[in-house]
Amino acid sequence: MTIRQPIVAVVGHVDHGKTSLLDNIRGSSVASGEAGGITQKISFTSLPVAQIKNKCPLLEKNKLALKIPGFLLIDTPGHAAFTNLRRRGGALADIAILIIDIINGIQPQTAEAIAILKHNKTPFIIALNKIDAISGWRKQNNALKEDIEAQSELAKTEFDTKLYTLIGALHNHGFEADIFYNVTDFTKKISVIPCSAKTGEGIQELLMLLCGLSQRFFEKQLTLGKEAKGVILEVKKDHAMQHIEAILYDGTLKVGDNIAIATLDKTISAKVKAIHEIQPLSFDFRQVEEAKASTGLRIICSEQEYIQSGMPFQSYSGNIEEIEKEFKKQLAESIKTDKQGVIVKADSLGSIEALLTLLRQENIQVMKASIGSIKKSDISSAAANIEKHPLNAIVLGFNVSIDEEAKTLAKGIKILTNEVVYRLIEDYKKWRTEKEKEIEREKLLSLATLCKLEILQNCIFHNSNPAIFGIRVVAGKLKQNTQLILQSGEEISRVKGLQHEKSNIQEATEGMEIAVSLPGVAFDRQLKNEKYLYSNLGETQFRDFKKNKNLLSSSELAILQEISQIKRKDRVTWGI
Ligand code: GTP
Ligand code: MG
Repeated sequence: MTIRQPIVAVVGHVDHGKTSLLDNIRGSSVASGEAGGITQKISFTSLPVAQIKNKCPLLEKNKLALKIPGFLLIDTPGHAAFTNLRRRGGALADIAILIIDIINGIQPQTAEAIAILKHNKTPFIIALNKIDAISGWRKQNNALKEDIEAQSELAKTEFDTKLYTLIGALHNHGFEADIFYNVTDFTKKISVIPCSAKTGEGIQELLMLLCGLSQRFFEKQLTLGKEAKGVILEVKKDHAMQHIEAILYDGTLKVGDNIAIATLDKTISAKVKAIHEIQPLSFDFRQVEEAKASTGLRIICSEQEYIQSGMPFQSYSGNIEEIEKEFKKQLAESIKTDKQGVIVKADSLGSIEALLTLLRQENIQVMKASIGSIKKSDISSAAANIEKHPLNAIVLGFNVSIDEEAKTLAKGIKILTNEVVYRLIEDYKKWRTEKEKEIEREKLLSLATLCKLEILQNCIFHNSNPAIFGIRVVAGKLKQNTQLILQSGEEISRVKGLQHEKSNIQEATEGMEIAVSLPGVAFDRQLKNEKYLYSNLGETQFRDFKKNKNLLSSSELAILQEISQIKRKDRVTWGI
């Protein structure tokens, strides 16, 4: 029975020290060389037993014999933009280290990481990092527990406050946690290990716990299976030598193997042409004939142009259909859509999954979800919603571009894109609120017309039967059939026809100068000395408008007031 290396993912908020912690364990200095000090992709390191022992003399002291061949450590980005990579890292992990900056506590991506771990049921421990940043903290050279107890009163108080605030906050996230030396049942309580990636305090204890937990709880799960199984991390297409970067989490992969790889449309079959494996404690790869899980690989294979990042693969010898069925089931579970909803696009499977999960949490339904840039067909799908579901006439793009063709077609269809999934969702919610208001407003205005018209006394085309003359819409909207009143409150006829630049129109908006025809009105007798006309309003309509006054423009509100004043000349309680 061969036991594979447990996959350990390090997750947490940006800058809380994930890469630094790994640097300390590896004896490397990756963090200081990163662009902007930010991790931008998933990277992996093979940590052999020798280095674990070297970093953790406690193992020998406690006579803990290691059965595992080492760890495959996965570093994930903590920046808000990389939700998809955190999800992928989280999904791969046998066990995770959730890193939390002791000074800053739980931050948005810490909460996100907790949600991912919960969703995948991944066991985890907490590295409470940067203890050296506590004021007055002094590094001692004892075991961590004594180290903590030997701190000054001031440092100890701050430490305790931070620790217990964190334990309380974790409780609110549904997890019971305690400082590691107080935990007796590791299946019930999450261990918190205070540490410093800078001074190295607590790293021994962290490794010790990681080894202990891995061996105790995962032995069965770590038994190497027959089929090679893995996940594609990246497809490097712009390289002179194209290859895919992948993590093999089970079995043995050999050159010449046939592998089934899931894509969104179908499962493809490819032949492995070359394998390069990550070297222990290094970022170099070495060409090999076969590789055993768990390990990080660069693979050169056929069909490379069809491979998508985030997808699972598996070696096979007999028939591919079984695997295809399994992949289909997995993907259908990841990309579940609803009968009605918005259209979403994202750059990879992980991104789509992340976006869908977050949308679901907000009760936002999704009709169509796929990978790639926003295309003409996405706009058409959104356009089909305009009449019946206007709030779904939108395409949301997470980390994708918009095709030129789609842009030209998109008139009237909203497209929102963002590289940060949370902002995308915030923007959609904002748009939806605006749109809801607009719809309400249209509904309100379709029930009754609200307008004030100025009579253009020098544009009289026909005196009576019907009277035809020019008006200017001062505010609001004039529609055919609107009943008009004079400033005195006297009702005159309904508007029969509206003409603008010699053609008939259905309605006229603020600022327009048009001709109207009023049957049964003699202009010289009734309108010659009038300046304005108003739309007539019933009391119920008035109350409706008043109730929804947040939907009206300031000029519409002003007319509403003028009309009520006209009406109240007759009866002071009108509309109250
Ligand atoms: P992302 O990958 O961008 O999410 O960040 P990260 O979590 O990998 O953090 P990183 O290791 O890049 O560290 C961020 C900053 O915190 C760097 O300036 C580190 O030097 C500093 N830092 C990390 N660990 C410690 C620590 O234990 N103590 C102190 N004082 N600073 C630390
Ligand atoms: Mg990092």
